[in-house]
Amino acid sequence: MFESNVYKKRREVLKNNISSGIVLFSGNVDSPMNYPANTFHFRQDSTFLYYFGLNKPGFYGVIDIDNGEDYLFGTDFTIDDIIWMGPQPLVSKLSESIGTAKSGTISEMKDVLNKAINAGRKIHFLPPYRGENVLDVSALLGIAPAMIKGYSSIELINSVVKQRSHKEEREIVEIEKALKISSEIYDAMFKQVKPGKYEKEMTGIIEGIVGKYGAVTSFPIILSIHGETLHNHGHENMMSDGDLLIIDSGAESPEYYASDITRTLPVSGKFSDKQKDVFRIVQKAIETTTEFVQPGRKYKDIHMMAAEIIAGGLKDLGLMKGNVEDAVKEGAHALFFPHGLGHMMGLDVHDMENLGENYIGYTDEMERSDQFGTAYLRLARELEPGFVLTVEPGIYFIPALIDKWRTEGKHKDFINYDNVEKYIDFGGIRLEDDVLVREKGHRVLGEPIPKSVEDIENRMA
Ligand code: GLY
Ligand code: MN
Ligand code: MN
Repeated sequence: MFESNVYKKRREVLKNNISSGIVLFSGNVDSPMNYPANTFHFRQDSTFLYYFGLNKPGFYGVIDIDNGEDYLFGTDFTIDDIIWMGPQPLVSKLSESIGTAKSGTISEMKDVLNKAINAGRKIHFLPPYRGENVLDVSALLGIAPAMIKGYSSIELINSVVKQRSHKEEREIVEIEKALKISSEIYDAMFKQVKPGKYEKEMTGIIEGIVGKYGAVTSFPIILSIHGETLHNHGHENMMSDGDLLIIDSGAESPEYYASDITRTLPVSGKFSDKQKDVFRIVQKAIETTTEFVQPGRKYKDIHMMAAEIIAGGLKDLGLMKGNVEDAVKEGAHALFFPHGLGHMMGLDVHDMENLGENYIGYTDEMERSDQFGTAYLRLARELEPGFVLTVEPGIYFIPALIDKWRTEGKHKDFINYDNVEKYIDFGGIRLEDDVLVREKGHRVLGEPIPKSVEDIENRMA
């Protein structure tokens, strides 16, 4: 945990951003895997962590905007709990550690909430994303579960997004701790990826490295010789000479901040000429677009720039044709680059996405595109100092999508389907870095991890 003042100050800022009422943060609870006592790894809600710091199940944070008081509510452990779990701190002690003015029991919290409800005061809460929390908030506030999302506070969402989007220096330090683990992961991968080994052996190594730091991965590992499947969570394939392996992985720092890195490796240690050609387009896309990450630029424009680099490169290879700008405007590039260039990152790998993607990545003045490909862009808004985002272009040959578009004759003025067929079993290539927007320009976070053909081949030799 950070020192108590960090959480106190964050809550002060929030108090100043909300007009009036009471704010209720319901922390996460343990989630059973197959029976109640056998639970999934516990992960606290990130906004709760941000304002109240405690990585423990069953707690609530309450802020009274009108009298300025804040509270931690929870249940003290009984001797039975302590027999199974060891000595546990009292709620009052935990409250001190995060600087909340008051602490109390759950029934005391219900009194506070009921008093506020009876007085007709506004109770702000964030849209819960777990079933348990939906039911819990529903019961606490007397709102039907199906209506909970609609009653969540847009004022609170906007205030939290505004605050969490601008990372403090200590948060950057945390992200770089996670990236240090990522560095070690890719060091190991450069040595361990070899023909005849299985994908699951590689994920085992990654989990081992992360576990050695007492950490967990920040999302389920994507590691596949079928990189054309964007989020492939199966790891049963044997890796063979000639395969490309996408490794998209991340770790959590001690304070639960994420890293999110992707590299694509030739399983044999050497890229074929055909693989090099496509790889270099993706490399150009990540290097060029990263240079444009700076305050005042719209990330959507940077995304469109990546799309043009990709379409231009594929045109040079004879896979696309016609005017590149027109092809991108029409959305033809999305056959090969169907996702967005990146997303915000912080306590969540897709930071704050539980609050609603458009609140994070778009402004009221920006309309989200409904065009295939660009519609998936999670971050489009103008960049501001303190944002941490990913830059992650890719080129994929997705047989089902190619077949579909070809049959429909889609974008046939921009796509050379006969040539694309020659790449049908190519797979995919993605490269991804985590980038901080600074007052001027940007900084690619963490130690550099090789991402050129030459550097990757050298490291694998
Ligand atoms: N790790 C998932 C992503 O890159 O967004
Ligand atoms: Mn990412
Ligand atoms: Mn990723």
